[in-house]
Amino acid sequence: MTSQPKAQRRRLVVGNWKMNGTREDNSCLLQNILADWPTLVNVDVAICPPFVYIEQVARALSPRELYWGGQSVNPNAPGAYTGEVSAQMLRDLDCRYVIVGHNERRRLQHESDDCVARQFLAAQAEGLTPILCVGESSEQRKQGQALATIGRQLKAVLEVAGLEAFSNAVVAYEPIWAVGTGVTATPEEAAQVHAFIRDQFADVGQSLVILYGGSVKPENAAELFAKPDIDGALLGGASLKAQDFIAICQCAENAGK
Ligand code: PGA
Repeated sequence: MTSQPKAQRRRLVVGNWKMNGTREDNSCLLQNILADWPTLVNVDVAICPPFVYIEQVARALSPRELYWGGQSVNPNAPGAYTGEVSAQMLRDLDCRYVIVGHNERRRLQHESDDCVARQFLAAQAEGLTPILCVGESSEQRKQGQALATIGRQLKAVLEVAGLEAFSNAVVAYEPIWAVGTGVTATPEEAAQVHAFIRDQFADVGQSLVILYGGSVKPENAAELFAKPDIDGALLGGASLKAQDFIAICQCAENAGK
């Protein structure tokens, strides 16, 4: 297994607000985050709010050199897709990132590997950086199928996008059993999967940013980020609490120092 000192890769923390917040809630959360925002030089930070609040978040974050993105994208060119949002639209709102293949979308919106691959391509075609989520269910882990499952999910995108496409992409390992459950993968469990993921990308893997997601909290972030192949985090619950969000970004900043 290959791994490389993380100093050579930039760290990244992404907040996924999921379907939470009102304009007022967001305004309060953003104010609280920005009021105590530390100087971070080693970490990029982004927030992915619901589509309808992207402009609100962008207005608040842009003066601070923080980034924003979408939680999903429709892979088709603009047209007759009621209720959907295209990559062009996300680009129009100056999004830097878009999450693709989050397990909630795969499970609840029945997004197939093929659909996720098309989202990945559509995002890149508009100059967005896709954050490709992969991860196994607890059943798959119990059956010893975790790596095989993740390998399949990666291959579906690699086959259509090619290896080089991953020089402008992020991969997030999110074990389904850890997302929103309060149960976090141990640093060793996560590290094993991250090293496996990096190995799937040959040379490109060395510069690939690989995030861990699944019940990351201020209490467990530092030990996760201490693992050489864990380059940051994709946060759900913790991104909705200003102090937790800041503390985790600070842990990413300090990791490897
Ligand atoms: P969680 O969610 O941090 O609440 O577990 C992570 C995610 O869904 O990206």
